Amino acid sequence: MKTPVRVTVTGPAGQIGYSTLFRIASGAMLGPDQPVELRLLERTNSTSQSALKGVMMELEDCAFPLLHGLMSTTDQKEAFRDTDYALLIGARPRGPGMERADLLEANAQIFNTQGRALDEVAKRSVKVIVVGNPCNTNAWIAMKSAPSLSPKCFSAMLRLDQNRARAQVAKKTGAPVSHIHQVAVWGNHSPTMFPDLSAATVDGRKATDILDAAWIRDEFIPTVAKRGSEIIKARGASSAASAGAAAIDHMRDWALGSAGEWVTMGVPSDGSYGIPEGLVFGFPCVCRNGDYDIVQGLGFDDEAKARIAKTLAELESERDAVKAFLKL
Ligand code: NAI
Repeated sequence: MKTPVRVTVTGPAGQIGYSTLFRIASGAMLGPDQPVELRLLERTNSTSQSALKGVMMELEDCAFPLLHGLMSTTDQKEAFRDTDYALLIGARPRGPGMERADLLEANAQIFNTQGRALDEVAKRSVKVIVVGNPCNTNAWIAMKSAPSLSPKCFSAMLRLDQNRARAQVAKKTGAPVSHIHQVAVWGNHSPTMFPDLSAATVDGRKATDILDAAWIRDEFIPTVAKRGSEIIKARGASSAASAGAAAIDHMRDWALGSAGEWVTMGVPSDGSYGIPEGLVFGFPCVCRNGDYDIVQGLGFDDEAKARIAKTLAELESERDAVKAFLKL
């Protein structure tokens, strides 16, 4: 049995927290031979603390053999001390009458202080996924607030968008998801994202030879981009189980490798494809040896270039807005 690793989860009393914690503790994220110590960071209010108490009672009651430690705190440094993996799920939701700028500002404060705490006390090899929205910009803020950590420690979750894209292709073609490869999602986790099938394969054949261009443009791309709001409409609550599953997929592949499979991650750009360096952007990546590489050498037609320019412009405007109230 390996030495236990520390996993910090923020927002553990929320919906996504509830669908993620039990899978981390069961070994679904880091493998069946990797014990974990969970550190849960929640807000101080009594409703959240009471819900968290119940979640922790349930975690105990699962008697997971891999769960070697469980604690909760409201102190960021205690939560992130020596942590190996951090899932930053908790964020400020958009309240009634709240403007986009207010939402960005409220979250900027949260991810600024969490980034600073990670900088001070986390393991230097920490792997951070930001799930809380706006996740690309929140990840950028945390990264900028942690200058002593490598930018490669920080990522944002676009895996749900990639999973949704693969699932739509599976549904349309009748092929199992496991036969669909090289699906990419570029840019921001927002309706401007660009789900891209230009390199995708289905049962070894080019997806663009099987699927109609009009279906891709008029149905596939909008369905993936608007899936989150369709789920809210249908379920009366936002996607939580699928978001939790995507967070597990993202961390598992990053930690254990993606076996050559393309996985979409929001990562700080290294200048690939002309995306300004440092901006946290959805790229197709391949993970190996606990690291990731952005897939290189892909080409874009004019329509794809326009879609990437649109999502890039949105991310740049978010970054500029938060720069105004944080001195980053
Ligand atoms: P939720 O409202 O059910 O839970 C959020 C939890 O975070 C609450 O328990 C709250 O008390 C806690 N929290 C808030 N601020 C915190 C802080 N500063 N420190 C610690 N805990 C804090 O929300 P849910 O459904 O779990 O969603 C969480 C976030 O994930 C939202 O921002 C949502 O928009 C985002 N999301 C992202 C997706 C993605 O693909 N990147 C997909 C779906 C949701």
